[in-house]
Amino acid sequence: MTSFTLNGRPVSADLPDDTPLLWVVRDHLDLTGTKFGCGMALCGACTMHLDGEPIRSCSTPLSAAAGKSLTTIEGIGEARIGAAVQAAWQKLDVVQCGYCQSGQIMSAVALLASNPKPSDADIDAAMSGNLCRCATYVRIRAAIHEAAQALA
Ligand code: FES
Ligand code: FES
Repeated sequence: MTSFTLNGRPVSADLPDDTPLLWVVRDHLDLTGTKFGCGMALCGACTMHLDGEPIRSCSTPLSAAAGKSLTTIEGIGEARIGAAVQAAWQKLDVVQCGYCQSGQIMSAVALLASNPKPSDADIDAAMSGNLCRCATYVRIRAAIHEAAQALA
């Protein structure tokens, strides 16, 4: 049995230690906002935060979460930066098909938490691991600037 905090609430999972967190959260804890893309830590669709740091949940085992705080797209809007990023995403109508976007938002929040006023180059570097097949990159960059301004 592995216990951790999920979006501020204590949870437990009685699963093998090497079960990827993505499947723990989606299949056993019923939060399906985080998506499966590549399953190989290459696309960023599955990004969650573990103790505030972005992780690829498809490739992070359940054991890594023991005693820690896991945040998903369902909980990120409860904090100030997450709420600002989600508002900017809506204002600039970033989303196209939407499949990659929970991962994009999680990475954007992590960027703004460490760099409140990122340059275009900072954004491109921080977001380079999050792929979007609909090519919403220009709007993503604009929305991160928008959120940074709102938080200033
Ligand atoms: S599904 Fe995890 S990085 Fe692609
Ligand atoms: S919005 Fe469609 S993959 Fe990014």
